[in-house]
Amino acid sequence: MRPADYHDRTKHHVNRLARSSGYLDWASQPAPFRAYTGAPVTSLVPRAPVHSPPYFAYGQLFDPPDGGGPGTAAAIGNSLRYALGLSAWKSFRGSRWALRVNPSSGNLHPTEAYVVTGPLIGVAATAGVYHYAPDRHELELRVAFDADAWRAAAGGAAWLVALTSIHWREAWKYGERAFRYCQHDLGHAVAALAMAARLEDLDARMLPGWSRAAIGALVGADRDSDFGDAEREEPACVLAVGRGDGFGGLWSPAPRFLDAIARGSWTGHATRLSGERLDWPAIDEVAEATADPGRGGVEGYLAGRTPRAPRERADATSDGPDPDARTVLLQRRSAVAFDGTTSLAGARFVAMLARTLPGPGAPWSALWWTPRLHLALFVHRVDGIEPGLYLLPRDRDAVPRLREAFGNDFLWEVADDSLPLVRLARGDGRRISQHVSCDQAIAADGCFSVAMIADFARSLDEYGPSFYRHLFWEAGVIGQVLYLEAEAAGARGTGIGCFFDDLVHDRLGITDHRFQSLYHFAVGRPVDDARLTTEPGYPWEPLAP
Ligand SMILES: Cc1cc2nc3c(=O)[nH]c(=O)nc-3n(C[C@H](O)[C@H](O)[C@H](O)COP(=O)(O)O)c2cc1C
Repeated sequence: MRPADYHDRTKHHVNRLARSSGYLDWASQPAPFRAYTGAPVTSLVPRAPVHSPPYFAYGQLFDPPDGGGPGTAAAIGNSLRYALGLSAWKSFRGSRWALRVNPSSGNLHPTEAYVVTGPLIGVAATAGVYHYAPDRHELELRVAFDADAWRAAAGGAAWLVALTSIHWREAWKYGERAFRYCQHDLGHAVAALAMAARLEDLDARMLPGWSRAAIGALVGADRDSDFGDAEREEPACVLAVGRGDGFGGLWSPAPRFLDAIARGSWTGHATRLSGERLDWPAIDEVAEATADPGRGGVEGYLAGRTPRAPRERADATSDGPDPDARTVLLQRRSAVAFDGTTSLAGARFVAMLARTLPGPGAPWSALWWTPRLHLALFVHRVDGIEPGLYLLPRDRDAVPRLREAFGNDFLWEVADDSLPLVRLARGDGRRISQHVSCDQAIAADGCFSVAMIADFARSLDEYGPSFYRHLFWEAGVIGQVLYLEAEAAGARGTGIGCFFDDLVHDRLGITDHRFQSLYHFAVGRPVDDARLTTEPGYPWEPLAP
């Protein structure tokens, strides 16, 4: 199935949603946490009681690292904790569920993470591939392999993180459209990992030369005997974490490295997540069609190419010191409702948008392609910015093509002197914004909402069908930045995966596949649900504010 065909068949229409079972079968709800039974376990729980870690300015998360810290077990533990760990436990009327640092469509968390390291003091004398268990904050050993093979391959990498998706976790609720949500979630996880690596003064970069088959061999997703009737995992991407300038040797997997892993000593059997499962052949087909062949000769990491827009104006107007990065990471939540009245300071809005533009630091340094997504913004309540429809092109080279593809008669007026922000139309966009986002009130009651518009057909022509996934990953990275920016501004964000695709296109005058909307987002002042009880993510940590 061509990605464009999957994309079209999984569009939501007002009178016809994408195919799903249409009801929630609670008996088959997938378990949110996977374990590998029989695998030796390494706890990442800090040995000493956790007091307050040292202050780390939130803004520094976006800066390039200075030097590069070591790949100790503690560094791995901290960076996983602040990327993919638990942020809170919530309970209501006898139900209890975990929230994580990274968000997920429906809180279903299809993404699994694996860490690859050399020998670790206090953990193992040899190299290993480990599954991360966020519920216990533990590593489960999948394979112990020859430490020399790691040393020969690692270069400047302190460790690798490989990500996979369990499609069934999302398909259980969302049916055919779930493949999209798995990709969004991966993008959020990539950004979360890149930003948490900054806390350890490390860079994280996606390695473009790793094919689906190589990633599968790395994490053992291809090992039938370890899965039995457990849900399989779809390999997605590998990130190297360390000194970014020393990753050259890892760009593609060295045959000797993969050989050492294949010959290593494997442990653990994947747990089954649901008793019953429904098949969604369209997801299997699009996964096959978008399998990554691995690629060399790409143009270079985003970071080196496009400078971030100046932030001076926003920094000058910020009300007090930068908040603590870890606090912001742990308090990130999705708003379930906005108050419909609060407005956002104009300079804050500009600062948030500036952070969605690629720059030399995290999370953009993690991505190897130039920006493919542009933001169409419905501005509702931002001081000094007239309500209306705006466009933030994230790559100036795309502007002529955006103008050509947006068939409607728009203003194309410069709307800001420090950002490439363009006013397309004036007026109250709350009703249309809510309507296109599956009639969800969050899209109207916040300060602004966003539709992320992908340079679709051209990007797929350039990099092939597997790049369909990368487009969603970029959307997820933008979403993660907006979540954190909202939180740092004292507001809150919500990712919006449910939208009527072609209604958004109609509003912009898009009539073909040159550009397609991939993800929506809303930011505003949240109205909290006071009925929920909140406990800390881990018992050894105090509750985040
Ligand atoms: C890709 C994606 C799509 C989402 N779509 C919606 C949506 O359409 N409506 C909504 O209210 N929340 C949506 N959410 C928010 C999730 O429900 C939320 O992330 C999840 O419940 C976990 O809660 P947390 O973000 O507070 O950790 C989405 C989140 C993601 C990552």
